[in-house]
Amino acid sequence: MVTVRAPASSANLGSGFDVFGLALGRPADVVRVERAERTTIEATGVGSRYVPEDPTENTAGVVAEELGTPARIRIDKGVRPSSGLGSSAASAAAAAVALNECYDCGLTDRELVRVAAEGEAAVSGEAHADNVAPAILGGFTVVTDDDVTQIDASVPLVACLPETVVSTRDARQVIPDSVSRADHVRTVGDAATLTAGMARDDPAVVGRGLRDGAVTESRASLVDGYDAVREAALDAGATGVAISGAGPSVLAVCREDVRRAVAGAMLDAFAEADVDARAYQTAIGKGATVVER
Ligand code: HSE
Repeated sequence: MVTVRAPASSANLGSGFDVFGLALGRPADVVRVERAERTTIEATGVGSRYVPEDPTENTAGVVAEELGTPARIRIDKGVRPSSGLGSSAASAAAAAVALNECYDCGLTDRELVRVAAEGEAAVSGEAHADNVAPAILGGFTVVTDDDVTQIDASVPLVACLPETVVSTRDARQVIPDSVSRADHVRTVGDAATLTAGMARDDPAVVGRGLRDGAVTESRASLVDGYDAVREAALDAGATGVAISGAGPSVLAVCREDVRRAVAGAMLDAFAEADVDARAYQTAIGKGATVVER
């Protein structure tokens, strides 16, 4: 029996649509696996009633199939499904690391990112590694078609999760097919700034690079209260704000001394918009970890 904790993650970070991701210190999924004749899934925890227990429809089940490692898989959800915080990726990442350990497969973490991305692909239709990469490797990750670059960083964050749901399909449909040359130049500059900020572990520089006039702007209307929450976070001292993944969570970067105030301001702004929400005061954290074997 092997138990692995894998963290929530936030993809895009404004300027890095489908490329950037980071691991959150919390929340996390905890997945326990044990060898079995065939794969079964049991899910408990936050929003577990929305987690499919058919292994062909569950990212962890697809990971077991990909690895050829049938198992009894028990998922304790800490990351709410459809939160924009990499819920299915956390389960896929934890399952990949746990099964690799349980069956002594000997795969590297980077190979496990590919396997976990297949789990995401089977369930969502597209092989995004922008959540599974940070969920496995930790820190800040840059995912391209054939590579992953990882930077350890520990920038303070607030992830504010409203009690609403945004369909990833809808959130992808509203994105323009092309951007102007001026927007392209601005986005490259912002993405480079954000990466430099991660390398320096500097919330001020990361926050500047979190800007994005193309994707976030087109998605903002899908997240009730987004503009007010963003303004409130910036007024309370956040250095940058973006929609987390496809939403509805909103991610703010800040210095540690203002993190509590930023979280309070975001919750107040959601409440003002009649939206219940909860805030995770956290920081960029580590990747999937074996907690018991
Ligand atoms: N990057 C994806 C999106 C979501 O924003 O649609 C996470 O894979």
